[in-house]
Amino acid sequence: MPERHVVLGVSGSIAAYKAVDLASKLTQAGVAVHTVMTEAATQLVGPATFRAITGLPVSTSMFDLTNPYSIEHISLSEVADLMLIAPATANVMAKLTTGIADDLLTCTALATRAPILIAPAMHTAMWENAATQANFETLKSRGVRFVGPAVGRLASGGFGAGRFASVHDILGIALGLLGAGGDLTGRKLVITAAGTRESIDPIRFLSNRSTGKMGFALAEAARDRGANVTLITGPTFLEPPSGMSVFPVESAAEMLDAVKLVSSDADVLIMAAAVADYTPEMCASEKLKKEELDIDFVLPLSRTEDILTTVTGIPIRVGFAAESQHLIKNAQRKLVAKNLDLIVANDISRKDSGMGADDNECTVLDRKGESESLPLMPKREVAERILDRIVALLDQA
Ligand SMILES: Cc1cc2nc3c(=O)[nH]c(=O)nc-3n(C[C@H](O)[C@H](O)[C@H](O)COP(=O)(O)O)c2cc1C
Repeated sequence: MPERHVVLGVSGSIAAYKAVDLASKLTQAGVAVHTVMTEAATQLVGPATFRAITGLPVSTSMFDLTNPYSIEHISLSEVADLMLIAPATANVMAKLTTGIADDLLTCTALATRAPILIAPAMHTAMWENAATQANFETLKSRGVRFVGPAVGRLASGGFGAGRFASVHDILGIALGLLGAGGDLTGRKLVITAAGTRESIDPIRFLSNRSTGKMGFALAEAARDRGANVTLITGPTFLEPPSGMSVFPVESAAEMLDAVKLVSSDADVLIMAAAVADYTPEMCASEKLKKEELDIDFVLPLSRTEDILTTVTGIPIRVGFAAESQHLIKNAQRKLVAKNLDLIVANDISRKDSGMGADDNECTVLDRKGESESLPLMPKREVAERILDRIVALLDQA
């Protein structure tokens, strides 16, 4: 992937310290982060912190002769694949609306042709002020994107709108924008993740050990390659990824309904979820009491509908096979029975791989009977390798 450059504009909000974490996560994602700070921002966080985190020079003044760029605001505006202003003060938003360019951040924003993403942060009254709201609407109408502000506890002690969006959300949307033009641009991918829960009574359910990590990694990787992603997920402790549509579901039946609802115009369906094969015939409306049940209580189960068998007509359909024995033979059988384009076979007998683990070692099988073994690697890398195969299939289709 070519190096991607973000100009990170940091202005004088109390949330400026959170921009350090954002700069760090962008850098870890392989993005070159060029930080530009307003004078007010430097009162709140030191430029040296951003320089240490990003490994790149930090610009704080238009007339700083020690900086590596010749005409700094123009060089920065041209290097940017994305200009991310996080946090953005009410003051910066006002200046951007009117085209004022009296410091390096606003000058660079005025000069750049890259997309601009703004994460505002301010006290609720400042955010709700008619001037800020008008600036917000004007900037949006000019194509500037926004993430947040969130509603929550504010540094001022109050509670309301104006809180800096989570770094997780800003990061996801920024990476999605940087992915525009990637090899999945214009493609719609529907991806399922995590295990389902089949209710026995209001508090008990049948489920499995899937955490959703593999499906989430696939969804994030596809988003960052330009895809339009819809993620359908069973219950999970993972934070929902931003920059995509996320449908939380609970049971196998709900997952099937959601897949049917969103996949009619999909190019790819990836079923990474561990969907229950059986569900209780009935869910008790009141909690089952052991004193009222037979000592050898039997729970009648019925088969759930298999999603990949039911949902056909999508150009590329990919399944996962979690097996504890005869891995390749069983996966091959599933691939044929469900008429899949690819199947990813996971050996779940290993502790360091597959369900719940951060890494995965798997084998990808295709219709031609060919197989590719992927050694143990982080799930994000597995996701990239699976997507490489999907891109090749889409190009042939
Ligand atoms: C401690 C402190 C925190 C501040 N936090 C915010 C904030 O969260 N949002 C905001 O719009 N302004 C905030 N301000 C006010 C801005 O710093 C002020 O409007 C400043 O002129 C902004 O300059 P800049 O937009 O060039 O960074 C804060 C000021 C101080 C002293």
